Amino acid sequence: MIEILEKIIKEAEKDISLIKNLNDLENFRIKYLGRKGELTTFLRKIKDLSIEERKVVGKRANEFKEYLEKVIEEKRIFLKEEEKVFFFDYTLPGRKFWLGHKHPITQVMEECVDIFVRMGFKEEQGPEIEDEWHNFTALNIPPLHPARDMFSTFYLPDGRLLRSHTSPVQIRVMEREKPPIRIIAPGRVFRPDDFDASHSPVFHQIEGLYVDTDVTFLDLKATLEEFCRIFFGKEVIIKFVPSYFPFTEPSAEVLICCLNCLGKGCERCRNKGFLEILGCGMVHPQVLKNVNIDPEVYSGFAFGLGVERLAMIKFQIDDIRLFYQNDIRFLSQF
Ligand code: DAH
Repeated sequence: MIEILEKIIKEAEKDISLIKNLNDLENFRIKYLGRKGELTTFLRKIKDLSIEERKVVGKRANEFKEYLEKVIEEKRIFLKEEEKVFFFDYTLPGRKFWLGHKHPITQVMEECVDIFVRMGFKEEQGPEIEDEWHNFTALNIPPLHPARDMFSTFYLPDGRLLRSHTSPVQIRVMEREKPPIRIIAPGRVFRPDDFDASHSPVFHQIEGLYVDTDVTFLDLKATLEEFCRIFFGKEVIIKFVPSYFPFTEPSAEVLICCLNCLGKGCERCRNKGFLEILGCGMVHPQVLKNVNIDPEVYSGFAFGLGVERLAMIKFQIDDIRLFYQNDIRFLSQF
């Protein structure tokens, strides 16, 4: 009898190691401990044995029964936890996959930079915290010069400032490099303006600079016309009108026709027909002198584009604040 019991025990040990889930466990329980289970049947036969045999075999069989019951209970708890972790309800609806994209201002900025890079300009960056020299003085705007009023500025307690335009990048590059210089510098600029439909205290500009021998106003005009045609489309009408900037002479502003009425004047452009998109001009000889470039040998042109302006015209948006409210319904249109 003891051999039969040992065989059952051996088989049960092997079966235990094969249990993988609650179903296997239940089958195992029935096989050994069920009403007609192998161990149950065996235990029922013990009463027919001699007293001596009953003592030995009975003890071993009952101990094994207890052991099996304990193992089954432990395994049940473990497998239940495991099934919880791996439970996967394939009838649940799928989760929506949110795909982000670039902010319209970033898109426009990258598109512009890309156009100029293809023309041979190199991308540059400058610091957002600037000093008076780079933001003003070197750009031919000395202290107390009335032109400083054109660029109202945030000052830091230590005398430095938040750059009020991207033009200081011109100075940083010219201080560092010798002509030929052809750079494009996108970035954030800051002015203490209150928010309204066309103003924001933080906005974006793209600065361009080309310095070499024999650079003329014609180069400037051709470069900007080409840019506008690529960016806005071939049919666009561009005007250069005289203007004033301390760091360029002569200076101009570029106006672009309203894309809705092509310059005739309509409600969208408040009957203006043309909208200003950038300031430009031939680099002032004094600016070249300030960075030790000889204005007798070299000449250059520069321009500063307003990125929000470009985006508003291109996408026909009439309130700059929409760019900063981060309303997904607005942003996801681009
Ligand atoms: N910095 C000027 C502004 O913020 C824009 C500008 C005008 C930049 C003429 C230039 C330039 O480089 O030549 O209004």
